[in-house]
Amino acid sequence: MEVVIRPDHADLGRLAGEVVARLVGERPRAVLGVATGSSPRPVYADLVARVRAGSLDLSGVSTFSLDEYVGLPAGHPSSYRAEIRRELTDPAGIPPAQVHSPHGDAEDLPAAAAAYESLIAQSGGVDVQLLGLGSDGHIAFNEPGSSLASRTRIKTLTRRTREDNARFFDGDADAVPTHCLTQGLATILQARHVVLLAMGEGKARAVAELVEGAVSARWPATVLQWHPHVSVLIDEAAASRLELAGYYREAWANKPDWQGL
Ligand code: GLP
Repeated sequence: MEVVIRPDHADLGRLAGEVVARLVGERPRAVLGVATGSSPRPVYADLVARVRAGSLDLSGVSTFSLDEYVGLPAGHPSSYRAEIRRELTDPAGIPPAQVHSPHGDAEDLPAAAAAYESLIAQSGGVDVQLLGLGSDGHIAFNEPGSSLASRTRIKTLTRRTREDNARFFDGDADAVPTHCLTQGLATILQARHVVLLAMGEGKARAVAELVEGAVSARWPATVLQWHPHVSVLIDEAAASRLELAGYYREAWANKPDWQGL
């Protein structure tokens, strides 16, 4: 696990954007795992800027979202599918047929979850997975207590997550759906490279657990310690509870230029 601490969010976005640009340069039909929420937005801004500048072509890329609310009608502006289209895939010129998300509006949710797993496998698997981090340590919507071996399934959101996400529902936590379909922790572990972004003091405890805590379903993101290629991109506030921050800074400062993330 590599930890990169940078004060500037645009810098964090550029670092992750470079990972995607390098991948797509080598594999124009790459598979990108995408996350919603505010943390990946600097990455999306960077990618869209590269596309607009003509230095990056994302039109062959497919995307797989991590999760979706259950019960929101298709096209609801707060649905994760709508958010990903708005923030990334429409402005980046990725055709809607290549944009995939779990069907949270399906009648048969277990069947929709299984179909989503199959679709990811048929695509050849996720090359780069962008991730945010919940203040309670969730990744995607794998709340505390999630099986470390879990696959795409229905989950119940914690009250804290619904409160954290109320800002996308006019500040009303009760308007945030109670359930979701989410990729499991084992699904996420299959991505070939995981790039996690976290900013702000509200994430500091979860970041400390993720990087330096014991692997445990209590802090689901800790499962990433089992992944061979994880980049953790954080700002100073999110890094504030890391015991070994000095070591991570030194490693980054002395990293050979050719290596990349
Ligand atoms: C939601 C999403 C997660 C995201 C988390 C953090 O719960 N399901 O994928 O990582 O929010 O969101 P933010 O980046 O807005 O803090």
